Amino acid sequence: MSEPHGILLQLESVTKSFDGFKAINDLTFYLDHGEMRAVIGPNGAGKSTFMDIVTGRTRPDEGTVKFFPTGDTNVIDLTSLREHEINRLGIGRKFQTPAVYENLTVWNNLLISLNRPRDLWSTITYKVTSEDRDRIDDILKTVALDEQRNTQAGYLSHGKKQWLEIGMLLAQNPKLLLVDEPAAGMSDAETERTAELLLSLKGKHSIVVIEHDMEFIRRLGQKVTVLVQGHVMKEGSLDVVSEDEEVRSVYLGRKREKKVAA
Ligand SMILES: Nc1ncnc2c1ncn2[C@@H]1O[C@H](COP(=O)(O)OP(=O)(O)O)[C@@H](O)[C@H]1O
Ligand SMILES: [Mg+2]
Repeated sequence: MSEPHGILLQLESVTKSFDGFKAINDLTFYLDHGEMRAVIGPNGAGKSTFMDIVTGRTRPDEGTVKFFPTGDTNVIDLTSLREHEINRLGIGRKFQTPAVYENLTVWNNLLISLNRPRDLWSTITYKVTSEDRDRIDDILKTVALDEQRNTQAGYLSHGKKQWLEIGMLLAQNPKLLLVDEPAAGMSDAETERTAELLLSLKGKHSIVVIEHDMEFIRRLGQKVTVLVQGHVMKEGSLDVVSEDEEVRSVYLGRKREKKVAA
């Protein structure tokens, strides 16, 4: 069977106000099956709200949000679903701060994230299968935590916690991964490794990654969407968007000045 192609996620003319302030303003965004996209933009541009809308955490006031998990025929209106229903469709999200079970080992964090029966009785009686073990082994390698498999998650560095949480998302085998500022608070080496990790997922999952770190975005080497005041200002390669005068004036130029001043 061939992989589905074409559009996976489609937002059209989406608007969302908070107390009269348009956090998302006429936003139109398309993501293809298997695509990885970087979303950049100044603080308060609506990047996290965009993810809130896709995951059902926030309802848009206007516009459409559609998911095409199998190609073009099966269309799901995400605005009619609740957060957990959207998650079950295969849309996984990673928030900026890591949310791992600090008292459990890395291995057990991954085990409880695998898709399996959810009722209490099934959980109590659940026997770990060799298939589960293989999956966990795979994920441990992908997120470079093989050596820490028996470490209590609370003892991991901030960077490794982030990778574990990405691993926990992978355990759910999502079609679409939404990753909000994964490199925040990381060392340069960890940031580099995070970019490599996300790139290694490309093709297996569609990915939207929000990030501020330009070096990280450059490393990803993917199409970039510049979000400003809840609206797409420009899309294209990082080189193309960073040469755009408007983008430079509101975002990249200002960042560069800051960097120079620092
Ligand atoms: N649940 C909410 N209630 C009120 N205001 C919100 C809420 N979520 C986001 N906002 C506002 O919407 C704007 C965009 O925020 P956000 O999406 O977090 O920006 P970004 O992630 O790009 O920094 C901000 O002004 C923020 O204060
Ligand atoms: Mg944000």
